[in-house]
Amino acid sequence: MPDHEPQADDNGGVATATDTLTVTDNRTGETYEVPITDGTVRAMDFRQMKASEDDFGLMTYDPAFTNTASCRSAITYIDGEAGVLEHRGIPIEQLCERSSYLEVAYLLVHGELPTQEALDYWIYAITHHTYVHENLKKSMEGFRYDAHPMAMLLSTVGALSSFYPAARRIEDPTERYMAIVRLIAKMPTLAAFSYRHNLGLPYVYPDNDLWYTGNFLSMLYRINEPKYEPDPRLQRALDVLWILHADHEQNCSTSAVRSVGSSQVDPYSAVSAGVAALYGPLHGGANEAVLRMLERIERVENIPDFLQGVKDRKEKLMGFGHRVYQNYDPRARIIKKHVDEVLEVMGIDSPKVEIAVELEKRALDDEYFTDRKLYPNVDFYSGLIYEAMSIPPGMFTVMFAIPRTAGWLAQWKEMLEDEETRIARPRQVYVGPRTVDYVPVGER
Ligand code: CMC
Repeated sequence: MPDHEPQADDNGGVATATDTLTVTDNRTGETYEVPITDGTVRAMDFRQMKASEDDFGLMTYDPAFTNTASCRSAITYIDGEAGVLEHRGIPIEQLCERSSYLEVAYLLVHGELPTQEALDYWIYAITHHTYVHENLKKSMEGFRYDAHPMAMLLSTVGALSSFYPAARRIEDPTERYMAIVRLIAKMPTLAAFSYRHNLGLPYVYPDNDLWYTGNFLSMLYRINEPKYEPDPRLQRALDVLWILHADHEQNCSTSAVRSVGSSQVDPYSAVSAGVAALYGPLHGGANEAVLRMLERIERVENIPDFLQGVKDRKEKLMGFGHRVYQNYDPRARIIKKHVDEVLEVMGIDSPKVEIAVELEKRALDDEYFTDRKLYPNVDFYSGLIYEAMSIPPGMFTVMFAIPRTAGWLAQWKEMLEDEETRIARPRQVYVGPRTVDYVPVGER
């Protein structure tokens, strides 16, 4: 029998007798009925299905979790077929048009839009936790001059755990709140320090008079001017980009944060796992890979050869394809609109933009890509904007990690507050040898 009661569904209803799945185990002829709730069956309901008395029971096998929900979440809704993305029910298009990154961060973490007073307090708290301990700064100075900024970021985020040992008290709501504020506040500081480190320039301390994104630009670019004045258009473009990257439900890095966090480790350590996952080229590293790809293509005339290389599986069209979106990624549509604006502010004309636009056009006209539902994703155009802002490719994934911190923390908090949370511990299908005798090294 199932080990749980039917649960309330999405509409507040309860699964009825017809919301069940009847399974016949042809090994034994036994029939089982398992409840269907929210369009899912529970993997544990299959454990009762045994071929014999001493059988362990059926498991489900789903490498890469392509069809397995690992949690219930009320943070981000995606309809991949329709190209819809909503945070707490609000469409991404409205958030990009009318909100700010810090307000979206509040929305993700707290579950609702803040009142003016709550928003002011949130912004004040984040703005006043942007400094990092001097010892952390010193430890960054120890990295090689050419250390990858993501490698620096992931280790310094982990190192924050040693500066805030009280964060281990994850059951204390005040400690949770402080860790969330500190991480959102300090991420741009650590990111900017890693950028300055690569350039051999002195690190710039945060300027708490500036807006979150303006302060980041100041920490990147300030040289010896007494006050850095960020261009409001760049500040806003960055705000929009960061809203777009703030959360994306159960992707690789978020699953890493939830999985590591389920061990009840402190949030700095859990978030550093998220940064590590994001570092990979199939995840947050794709925007850097897109730029390298556009550099390799070099000229519009080379596009047909490049696309043939993709079809021959010698190349991958980076910035295309998505596990969830089988349609145009709504984030790519919004970013594309900002590319020209940023180029105009910076007064540059990038040949890569022409290559990217033509590449997209030709790929979308080609059955190879449309049959596989390969459309541009968020990373296809974001790198072009960052490059226009003179941000080097090595920093692109860092530019993704900063805003995704809000999403990771919202998901981490939700995971801790979920009564069903237990330590994440997948099963395996063992396919290796058994009871093999050890052979001493001299006899092998
Ligand atoms: N270029 C060429 N072919 C592709 C691509 C691509 N970018 N993506 C998928 N395919 C093909 C793939 O070869 C397969 O073809 P076939 O069925 O003939 O073997 C088919 O499309 C299905 O692909 P898949 O590998 O099963 O899809 P997936 O869901 O496992 O992978 C993905 C999703 C995003 C890892 C993949 O599309 C990819 O590697 N894209 C390029 C990297 C990229 O842009 N990543 C950023 C993702 S968005 C930001 C983020 O979440 O981090």
